Amino acid sequence: EHIPVICIDGPTASGKGTVAAAVAQRLGYHFLDSGSMYRTTALAAMRAGIPIDAQHEPELAALARTLPVRFAGGSIWLGADDITDAIRTEEAGMNASRVSTLAQVREALVALQLSFRRLPGLVADGRDMGTVIFPQAPLKVYLTASAAVRAERRHKQLISKGISSTIADLRADLEARDARDANRAVAPLRPAEDALVLDNSLLTIDEAVAQVIAWWQARQ
Ligand code: C5P
Repeated sequence: EHIPVICIDGPTASGKGTVAAAVAQRLGYHFLDSGSMYRTTALAAMRAGIPIDAQHEPELAALARTLPVRFAGGSIWLGADDITDAIRTEEAGMNASRVSTLAQVREALVALQLSFRRLPGLVADGRDMGTVIFPQAPLKVYLTASAAVRAERRHKQLISKGISSTIADLRADLEARDARDANRAVAPLRPAEDALVLDNSLLTIDEAVAQVIAWWQARQ
């Protein structure tokens, strides 16, 4: 059965999440935020007291394989806890980036990610959607933006949540996260060979969404 998948990969705070969710909404497709699975795994590890390092890879993978995670509407649940906000902190993002370097953890989360591919279609947001998880996807977008623009956007986002931060700190954090994502041995962050690169440093969200939809319509 043919179930179309649109992959939107790219670095931290490039606007992927917002653009991917909007594209899914416009097309009436399902939406996979794969980063949330790494964030949830990292949070579950912290709660279980399992250090996030290579020595604990088997335990972390076992945890990822049996995560009692549920995606309901816009919320994410870990067992009986609503962790929607808890996984969005900078710390959770940093820990997600660390746990995501472990091959066994990545492998443990494959089936859960594939289960999001359902009719009428899927928009998948992440780092390796086009390169590893859905290599046959008919449209792969690599969405990026300059580090300065990404730090500024993240700053505004945090302010709107009442969280204080400095642009310099955020930029240092996201550059560290990008470096780890791009340099890891398994599923490193890079555009798929057949990805269309969209730099949205100077685009609004609506313009970026319109570009992805136009590319999608051109493939029909
Ligand atoms: O996209 P988000 O910031 O929520 O992802 C958190 C972290 O999870 C990323 O920094 C990256 O290390 C990891 N990740 C990944 N593969 C994905 C999605 C996220 O390695 N497909």
